Parts: sequence; structure tokens; C-alpha cells
Amino acid sequence: MSKRMSKKIQIIIGTIAAATLVTSCVSRGNNTGWEYAPDMYYSKGYEPYNQGDSNVINPHGMSMREPVAGSIAYGKADFQYPLPNSGEGYEASATQIVAPADLTDADGRGKYHYNIYCTPCHGANGANDGEIFKKVATLKPAWKAYTDEYIKTLPEGKIYHTLTYGKNNMGSHASVLKPVDRWRVIKYVKQLSAAAPATADAAAPQDSTKKK
Ligand code: HEC
Repeated sequence: MSKRMSKKIQIIIGTIAAATLVTSCVSRGNNTGWEYAPDMYYSKGYEPYNQGDSNVINPHGMSMREPVAGSIAYGKADFQYPLPNSGEGYEASATQIVAPADLTDADGRGKYHYNIYCTPCHGANGANDGEIFKKVATLKPAWKAYTDEYIKTLPEGKIYHTLTYGKNNMGSHASVLKPVDRWRVIKYVKQLSAAAPATADAAAPQDSTKKK
């Protein structure tokens, strides 16, 4: 084969390769192209959550029906919270929402969760000296620390309401703390608030972020 000929072949092969690359990258919308063994994607058996587009009666094309409104999952009754996310709901929580009897933070689960979810704002001892409050002081609440009269006398039900729905700059913690853990954290908060009055400075030595 002459040198010119092989050069030509090289160019042709190069062009085909480039064209293949470009076309394979071009978007085809939702079309994924050929399907190998479609039964693998579109199950013939009933799938509870998804039946492709085939189930036209049930919501979301599911084979399964959705639970009746107001259904409570077995063993999850404590997830039901009767009060609305409103000012009236908050006030009502003071008397209507009470901790399960005999619940304490003896096993330290409250402290454990407090250290994960609450210290970034309220600090390890509830002196409102967490990293977020340090960086953005305007986020801080009106009260200075858990040892303030406000938290000492705050009904546990109101704290539960706040943990469930959030309050102003504090978000809801319902997705990360199941009801019994919310109560354990509340017991730990009350434990911290019962401690001798502490200033942010007095609490500093126990703040792990300052040991560096
Ligand atoms: C993003 C920062 C942030 C995090 C995280 C946070 N809080 Fe708060 N918290 C606040 C702010 C801000 C307020 C003041 C809300 C208000 O009254 O405006 C507050 C208020 C409170 C109050 C007073 C509630 C009331 O009813 O007045 C308690 C108690 C409390 N937090 C405990 C906790 C606990 C326990 C956790 C962890 C599960 C936690 N907070 C996590 C920012 C935070």
C-alpha cells in the first residue's frame, strides 16, 4: 500500500471515530436508546411502589394503595403530634404536651444527640457559643444561655413543640430525632440549665473547638 493511500485510510478512520464520539454525546432527550431485555426494567410481577405507567387507577402508578388518611404505622403512635404549627399550638404545648413518665437522660442518649445536633448553635454547655452563633451573632436568641431563667422555667412541652416544628431561626429537628429522643434531649437541656450560671467564657475550657 502506498504512503498516500495509508494516510487517506487514517483520515477516514479518524473521521468515523470522531463522528461516532460526537453522535454518542448528542442528547436524545429521554430516549435512552435500545433496551436489552425490557422485562428487566418493566417487571411482569406486581411491584408495590412502581408499575411503570401501567397502573392507571392507583396514585403515582403504584400497585399498592396509599394508607388511608390519618393511619398510624404500627408501633409509631408517639409520632402523632396533635398541635398545629402556630402560635396557639405553641402556647397549648406548655400544658398539653408532657414527657413520658419516668423518662430521664440516665443512659446519656440525650447528651449524645445534643452534642450532634445542638452544639453547633447552642454550644456544648448551652451558653449559645457554638460555631454558628459565633460566626453569625444575629442568629442568637434573646436569652443568653440555658442557665437563664427563661430556659429554667420554660415548660418541657414548649421545647418539644420547638424541636418538632422549629422556631424562628431554629429549624425543626423532627426528621433527626424520634419522639423519645426529643424528650431525652430535653431532659439533658434541663440538666444543663440547672447547672450554676455560666458565662460563655466560663464554658470555654470545655469547648473542644478551643483546645487547638
Ligand atoms: C441553627 C442553630 C440552632 C440549632 C442547630 C439548634 N437551635 Fe435551639 N434555638 C436556636 C435559635 C435561634 C433559638 C431562638 C428561637 C426564637 O425564640 O426565636 C433557639 C431556641 C431554642 C430553645 C428555646 C425554645 C423556646 O421554646 O423558646 C431551646 C430549648 C433550644 N433552642 C434547644 C435546642 C436543642 C435541644 C437543639 C438540638 C436538638 C437545638 N436547639 C438546635 C438555634 C438553634
